[in-house]
Amino acid sequence: MSAKERITELKQQFERDSEQISNPAELEELRVKYLGRKCELTAILRGLKDLPVEERKEVGKYANQIRSEIEAWVKDRKGSLESGEAVSTAKTDAVFDYTLPGKKRKLGRRHPVNIAIEEMCRIFFGMGFEIAVGPDVETDYYNFEALNIPKDHPARDMQDTFYIDDETVLRTHTSPVQIHVMESQKPPVRVIAPGKCYRNEAISARSNVLFHQIEGLYVDEGVTFADLKGTLEGFVREFFGSDIKARLRANYFPFTEPSAELDISCFLCNAKGCPICKHTGWLEVLGCGMVDPAVFSFVGYDPEKYSGFAFGMGIERIAMLKHGIDDIRRFFENDLRVLEQLL
Ligand code: DAH
Repeated sequence: MSAKERITELKQQFERDSEQISNPAELEELRVKYLGRKCELTAILRGLKDLPVEERKEVGKYANQIRSEIEAWVKDRKGSLESGEAVSTAKTDAVFDYTLPGKKRKLGRRHPVNIAIEEMCRIFFGMGFEIAVGPDVETDYYNFEALNIPKDHPARDMQDTFYIDDETVLRTHTSPVQIHVMESQKPPVRVIAPGKCYRNEAISARSNVLFHQIEGLYVDEGVTFADLKGTLEGFVREFFGSDIKARLRANYFPFTEPSAELDISCFLCNAKGCPICKHTGWLEVLGCGMVDPAVFSFVGYDPEKYSGFAFGMGIERIAMLKHGIDDIRRFFENDLRVLEQLL
């Protein structure tokens, strides 16, 4: 029998023997038999020098390959025996201790930002809104131009933008979804669009380069500012509690006219005044307004026939208020010690 044939035989013999292994002592015995100093494989390797050059190369390579395979198997099996892992041979029952306590698995949970988004969506579903989505990577046209923010408009300074190239940006707000929706359907339109937004800002406790917003848009014949107020008041009562008051304060956004900011009475201090509400008793929650007719003309809606309202709010900011978190970075560090407290 040639050396090569003998190695193949040893390999087959090993395979048969290895099936019988069910505890560390047997494994050690097997290791000594096939890998030990006095084993046959070692002897073959030692005897290589007596073989003709051609055969020496081939047999050496083969013997080393089988040796590595056996080593890997032994190592692997050692690991599984030590961790008490159940293995397929019937004999395992003898070593597997079924009375050992199980390993505790940590259950995953939803992220507080997702919880807030889902809760907001649920409330707006109840008012007949549908979900809309748009891309995170936008063209200048959707993020700015069609929202009535031309290239030289000072409002571009309100948002520090990540540019991919001259015409492509990471969206700075969810408002461009309004344009996609209106381009693709005729009124009545009643959508909310939650999603990620990006701004090239210095990262601090109050601002991050990545955050989430939820956008709302309602367009139909005869939609008025009273509809906007009623919708948002309904939302505030459901989301923050029925005793929370809301007020609208005049503001400016290029894509709405008139524009407003919605404040709610500070639920942290019962509107008495605290550091979070800057002693005003009010918390700023979102931006909103009546869709500017200029925006309608970009999407081909007749501003004489249709009117609508829109709003947009930052999710992290609201989740921070709700959970009393004082640093927006906590949402993205994924520190379980923090996240586990937020339910
Ligand atoms: N897009 C604005 C922002 O990111 C928020 C906003 C304000 C959205 C007014 C609106 C709106 O839809 O009507 O600051």
